[in-house]
Amino acid sequence: MFKSHVEKHKGEPQSNFDFKMMSAFFSIRDIFKKPKVILENADIKVDDYVLDYGCGPGSYSMVAAELVGPNGQVFAVDRHPLAIKKVNKKAVKRGLNNITTIQTNCKTDLKSCIIDVIFCFDTFHSFTQPKDNLSEFHRILKNNGALYIMDTHLFEDDLILSITGRGLFEFSEKRDEVYKFIKSN
Ligand SMILES: C[S@@+](CC[C@H](N)C(=O)[O-])C[C@H]1O[C@@H](n2cnc3c(N)ncnc32)[C@H](O)[C@@H]1O
Repeated sequence: MFKSHVEKHKGEPQSNFDFKMMSAFFSIRDIFKKPKVILENADIKVDDYVLDYGCGPGSYSMVAAELVGPNGQVFAVDRHPLAIKKVNKKAVKRGLNNITTIQTNCKTDLKSCIIDVIFCFDTFHSFTQPKDNLSEFHRILKNNGALYIMDTHLFEDDLILSITGRGLFEFSEKRDEVYKFIKSN
């Protein structure tokens, strides 16, 4: 039976070639759909601790690092080694000292309740164990923090149910294509 590219590669990192193609595509995407404009939908403040889950080549991590300033921190997380390499390289090139990269497919080893904002863009659909990823998000997010998801591969109802269905998060609002969730009690 036919399986989409997304389904076929679910659970395993892309090949290096695919990752490079995706990165090249994102360079063009970012001209038309500016990461800075998209991130205006997430309330990132100066000094915040922010986690970009599924950072890819780091389009959003770079903008977030500028928004939080030198006393804030951005954790750029991805399972693909090339993503980590690319983000580290971009951070050095831009003189950004507030980005920490983490290579993982779920657990971050960060302390509990230290993150103000988690955003996960165009990545949630590829999780094979979303329950585990959501538990990790819930663990590291401050009680008054927020989780922002954008994923054009999923229908709105499915996306909201996937996030809220486990009882860890509640849907708060939608701004453009970005869905905001807060922690349930
Ligand atoms: C389509 S890209 C999106 C990159 C970035 N968020 C953006 O929109 O520019 C998805 C990224 O998520 C990463 N990824 C997918 N599943 C993951 C998982 N379970 N844990 C960590 N990273 C994951 C992939 O390696 C890829 O870099």
